[in-house]
Amino acid sequence: MTRRKFWPLVGGALLAAGAATDWLVEHQPAGPEEAPADASRPAVPLVPDEQAILHLAALAPSGHNTQPWRITRHGPFQWVIGNDPARWLPAVDPTQRETMLSIGAFLQSLEYAAGHYGYACRWTLLATTYQSAEVAAVVLTKTAGLPGFDLAQLTSRRTVRTGYRNDALPAAAVRGLTAGEPGCHYFARATPEGQWLDAQTLAANHQQTYRDPAERELSQWMRFSNREAARHRDGLTPAGMDITGVAGWWVRHFYTPATVMEASFRERALTSAAQQVSAGAGWLVLTSPDRAPATLLAAGRRVQRLWVRVRAQGIGLHPMTQILEEAPFAGQVNAALGLAEPIQFLLRCGYVADYPNPVSERRPVAWFVHAGAAGLGTV
Ligand SMILES: Cc1cc2nc3c(=O)[nH]c(=O)nc-3n(C[C@H](O)[C@H](O)[C@H](O)COP(=O)(O)O)c2cc1C
Repeated sequence: MTRRKFWPLVGGALLAAGAATDWLVEHQPAGPEEAPADASRPAVPLVPDEQAILHLAALAPSGHNTQPWRITRHGPFQWVIGNDPARWLPAVDPTQRETMLSIGAFLQSLEYAAGHYGYACRWTLLATTYQSAEVAAVVLTKTAGLPGFDLAQLTSRRTVRTGYRNDALPAAAVRGLTAGEPGCHYFARATPEGQWLDAQTLAANHQQTYRDPAERELSQWMRFSNREAARHRDGLTPAGMDITGVAGWWVRHFYTPATVMEASFRERALTSAAQQVSAGAGWLVLTSPDRAPATLLAAGRRVQRLWVRVRAQGIGLHPMTQILEEAPFAGQVNAALGLAEPIQFLLRCGYVADYPNPVSERRPVAWFVHAGAAGLGTV
């Protein structure tokens, strides 16, 4: 069958991803793990708890799964969390606002994982801008009597893009999820605000999809083949985007970064986005009191605290951030939602019929930990 003849099939299967075609999923083994680009760098020896805590921290979400964190180890349990410019997304996140949110989520995961292993975290903020190479220093100290943390909450968290039910979240469920967290606003789908978010998310998606620098940037973070996924251990894989079954097989074998720039790919992505916004309970919107680097990190921490809670309630979260990335939408969203404070996250949410397990890639700890001078000095 030629590629052209196969397109309609793939289109249909993409839309039905994960459903009737699952029997065709090809369990293609990942190739031998290839070394990262800087393989010549000697691995930094870590004690087992450090390895475990950093591995769990790195399960945090990040835009395009870039995993923008970079750790400098100044001694056992003495780390500087850095922001890696090679992992920025200048076309969709030119100010690195989303990078800071992702690193905030990483800090929260790190603290949860440290707590599980009996370590308290002492943090020092280092970032003065969203571009600061050093974001925060942390020293972990073994401490008795910490509350502890259920690691399954970290290891089972994931972005859920498909499989939502349409019933609204009861007010009590929203209150339970957002308890103790400021700046969380829920808009049910049927409200004018929910409808505005649905429609404008699609409009902003359309604009971004046809903005070539943004689409080219996306193409650079796509890991279509198993080989590319194993080589990079980051970015967006077909499985991570819920493209499974025969469509997943086709995409893994025949798509390349160049495919992303084709009109047919862009149109299919928009069809998927339309299907996504047509399902779910509504939107969870997170605001922050200001735009300071510390406030952005706190917002990233907050989204991660919510994200690890939702699965136990059968609720999924799906950031759809194009409104915040594209003009004029970014300038209109506060007025449309009646919110005064800066909006940091727009998350589609809802009950998930059959909650999927995490599938997105993560780099091994050794790839993002670097050796630093002994001791954290005056930090
Ligand atoms: C700041 C930020 C922005 C994101 N924006 C989007 C988005 O616009 N669309 C989307 O499908 N996922 C978005 N995501 C989800 C990431 O793609 C996801 O976290 C990443 O691929 C890792 O997958 P996981 O969350 O399942 O571990 C965003 C995540 C973060 C932290």
